[in-house]
Amino acid sequence: MSGEIINKLENVTINDKADKGDVDDDFVDPWTVVSKSETGIDYDKLIKKFGSSKIDQELLDRFEKVTGKKVHHFLRRGIVFSHRDMHSILNQVEAGKPFYLYTGRGPSSHSMHIGHLVPFILCKWLQDVFNVPLVIQMTDDEKFMWKDLKMEEAQKMTMENVKDIIAIGFDVEKTFIFSDLTYIGQCPEFYQNMVKIQKCVTFNQVKGIFGFDDSSVIGKVAFPSVQATPALSTSFPHIFKGKKVPCLIPCAIDQDPYFRMTRDVTPRLGFKKPALLHSTFFPALQGAQTKMSASDSNTTIYLNDTPKQLKNKVNKHAFSGGQSTVEEHRRVGGNCDVDIAYQYLTFFLEDDDRLEQIRKDYTSGALLTGELKKILIDTLTPIVTRHQERRAKITDEVLKQFMTPRKLAFDV
Ligand code: TRP
Repeated sequence: MSGEIINKLENVTINDKADKGDVDDDFVDPWTVVSKSETGIDYDKLIKKFGSSKIDQELLDRFEKVTGKKVHHFLRRGIVFSHRDMHSILNQVEAGKPFYLYTGRGPSSHSMHIGHLVPFILCKWLQDVFNVPLVIQMTDDEKFMWKDLKMEEAQKMTMENVKDIIAIGFDVEKTFIFSDLTYIGQCPEFYQNMVKIQKCVTFNQVKGIFGFDDSSVIGKVAFPSVQATPALSTSFPHIFKGKKVPCLIPCAIDQDPYFRMTRDVTPRLGFKKPALLHSTFFPALQGAQTKMSASDSNTTIYLNDTPKQLKNKVNKHAFSGGQSTVEEHRRVGGNCDVDIAYQYLTFFLEDDDRLEQIRKDYTSGALLTGELKKILIDTLTPIVTRHQERRAKITDEVLKQFMTPRKLAFDV
């Protein structure tokens, strides 16, 4: 592990006195994800610490029963591993009643990376199997507040990222994408909900949840209310016409603090608590101690990387669970639990049987690290290339369609 990560982890742990949870090995909040373990975050511990529920076989079976479809491999493989109130969403579906999906993205770089695809691929699958509206919040205000960015830059990144999101294949009839810096000023209902939420949360509470202190700018202190507001359906009058519709939020687990706060507030405003589906982090190329970050080009495979860049990054930087010589590897075998090429295949190789064969062969030593990396390169390259082809076709007109407040193809 790099010295920098260890320092960061220790600083954070020491500063985290307010948190009585077990932070011996891992630290997770919306801004920092670090683990001291090569296998990455201990997700079972995190479930306990955050107080969410593990996605068990019973829930997966229910998913299949209600939708009549095999669950997505993210759910089958534990990449989406934790939830809050998912059963109540399935009850809603069984009763023939509507719900909607809400997710978001903080635009922090001009191109998204392959890890950013995960919650959006999940949302697309959920939108397809449940046939529900999806709202996507682009928190350009958040990035303006937290990063050394001009407002225009944050807005430009939003537009670039929205193109990446649309290229994942969302249906324009069912999806509304909005920038905070633009939409909130256009929609009084959104702002009114935000103010109602602000009235329910004290400084002391956000200090406890997010670690703000006396030197935090007040824009940061207020921001959690911005991220909470889309969980109230009345924030989108053009879609829900003032009706209260239950909300399901797919997100990476680091966003959970925002929604713990949201779930605390919504009943007091007469709304159901939003349900949540939590995904694991997408590990950095250098190893699972931290997640892939858009601001570090060596640890990251961007959606606009060329096939050559992708190949070089995997070959040069992907942390290997293999042995140092071929002889030793054949004898001892590789460790899939820490091997990044294998980990990435669990996200992007859909064929369960083939994945299992690769796991066995790498573990036994029959498959070498170079061969495993080649399988990953051959899996990722067409995904990234096809993404780029779809993205190139997205005109300003298409962008505008997705981002215009309008009625979607649902009658509520
Ligand atoms: N804060 C998130 C980020 O930095 C963006 C976000 C806003 C989000 N609303 C969300 C993520 C809802 C998941 C679900 O990326």
